[in-house]
Amino acid sequence: MGHNLLKGKRGIIFGALDENSIAWKVAVKCVEEGASITLTNAPAALRFGEINKLAEQLNAEIIPADATSLQDLEHLFVRSMELLGGKIDFVLHSIGMSVNMRKKKHYTELNYEWMMKTLDISAISFHKVMATGLKLDAFNEWGSVLALSYIAAQRVFPDYSEMAEAKALLESYARSFGYHLGTLKKVRVNTISQSPTMTTAGSGVKGFDAFYKYAEKMSPLGNAPADACADYCVTLFSDLTRYVTMQNLFHDGGFSNMGMNPALLDL
Ligand SMILES: NC(=O)c1ccc[n+]([C@@H]2O[C@H](COP(=O)([O-])OP(=O)(O)OC[C@H]3O[C@@H](n4cnc5c(N)ncnc54)[C@H](O)[C@@H]3O)[C@@H](O)[C@H]2O)c1
Repeated sequence: MGHNLLKGKRGIIFGALDENSIAWKVAVKCVEEGASITLTNAPAALRFGEINKLAEQLNAEIIPADATSLQDLEHLFVRSMELLGGKIDFVLHSIGMSVNMRKKKHYTELNYEWMMKTLDISAISFHKVMATGLKLDAFNEWGSVLALSYIAAQRVFPDYSEMAEAKALLESYARSFGYHLGTLKKVRVNTISQSPTMTTAGSGVKGFDAFYKYAEKMSPLGNAPADACADYCVTLFSDLTRYVTMQNLFHDGGFSNMGMNPALLDL
């Protein structure tokens, strides 16, 4: 049951791959809350076909776009405005991929060409999305742009490898571009730093299962599930958070402020 928090708003959701994806849950909640949306993912990801089920369920169009391609992004914004009937109120960037991790290259021996690709997909694409929306004058005033991050941007999680730098860059774009979008368009830009979550991208991290359990015990409220993350995204797209901008917001059951939790000690 929705509360009409996004009634009449138009949004673009990047990154729904399958029903475990955080973006999948966000898309469902946004429509429940009264928004109309378009769905987008990389052409290669669309071949899996899972997203068609979501599109059907939500009566939403899928517009393929490689988030590193300015041409694809321009088409995505133009087509979304046509289909939804006006400018865009919110965007979710829910994209992450590490080439070095995928190819099992250790952090101390990174392949730098692959690293550039990782940064382009996982972080620079966020800048490209905002730059394209601004260039096309595609954002409505008091709109909201959101990306998903992880605490490895601030603290060391060795197995998160080059994605730590990708997330640090992503969060920096939220601040730097947040200044420009705020000043020019009254649009806010934030990142949500989410708990470990069982998804395709999440389980691609080495030792994810053990780490998931560790974070679960360390966090006073336990790991924040994907559904709760979707709820939080809805609040940040809604008019109830209009002055929250340029922030990295932890959605992690308290993990980020813990030092030690006795629950983790085998006493
Ligand atoms: N799962 C976790 O533990 C966790 C924790 C914190 C933050 N996050 C972040 O949440 C976001 C969503 O990840 P998820 O966990 O839902 O996993 P996911 O694998 O379901 O989503 C990642 C998405 O990125 C898309 N993508 C990859 N390359 C792309 C490209 N070139 N163009 C467009 N899209 C592309 C994939 O197709 C996929 O849909 C990511 O930014 C991830 O880093 C995840």
